[in-house]
Amino acid sequence: MKVLIFDTAERAAECVAQQVIAQVQGKADSVLGLATGGTMLPIYELLVSANKNKQVSFSQASSFNLDEYVGLNPDHPCSYHKFMRDIFFSKTDFDVARAHLPHGNTGDPEAESEDYENLVLGAGGIDLQLLGIGENGHIGFNEPTSSFRSLTRIKTLTKSTIDANRRFFEAPAEPPKYAITMGIETILRGKMIAVLATGKNKSGAVATMVEGAMGAYCPATALQLHRHTTVVLDQAAASELKMRDYYFQVHPDGKDALV
Ligand code: GLP
Repeated sequence: MKVLIFDTAERAAECVAQQVIAQVQGKADSVLGLATGGTMLPIYELLVSANKNKQVSFSQASSFNLDEYVGLNPDHPCSYHKFMRDIFFSKTDFDVARAHLPHGNTGDPEAESEDYENLVLGAGGIDLQLLGIGENGHIGFNEPTSSFRSLTRIKTLTKSTIDANRRFFEAPAEPPKYAITMGIETILRGKMIAVLATGKNKSGAVATMVEGAMGAYCPATALQLHRHTTVVLDQAAASELKMRDYYFQVHPDGKDALV
């Protein structure tokens, strides 16, 4: 794993946005693996600006999002479909016909999961996968004890995940209890992976992901198996890493072209 530590969350997000921009500039029809969550918001803002400034065009790119809540239709204000439309797709030249998310509101979520897995495979695989991390070490919605060989499927969300995501739902609405998520194996098939984690609340999960023993209890530790994963952090998220000085020595101030 390449670990890049920046002094601020803004600079960490810029680093990941730059990686996406470089990927699409180098290959216009890149297949992007996209993520949701608060941590991702500054990345999408930067991508929208870069698109407005004509620095990058997404018109030939395609995308697959990691996950969607079961039971929410694409127009539900808290669905990940709407999140992606509002903050990214509708503000750029992204062709929405090539933007994919699992459908959480189908009558048969199991068949939808299998179809989604096949759709990702059929697209030739993901060139660059963006990831955030949950406080309990989940990636996508792969909760603790998810198999490292898992494919897209339905997962029951933990109380910690439901509590963490409650802020996106207006009370008394409760976050759904289930989600369709790419599996850990689906994620590991991505050619390159960029994980962004910022803030003190992520420092424990980050330390386990990078330096902990690999195990299903912290799904993000599976990324230790991936050859081209870059973990991009601010100081707060990096604060529990034992080898922080070493990472800083290898990539001072996150200096690395990342490509
Ligand atoms: C959700 C998403 C994950 C995301 C995580 C952290 O559970 N399914 O993809 O990484 O939240 O979100 P945040 O960035 O808001 O902390």
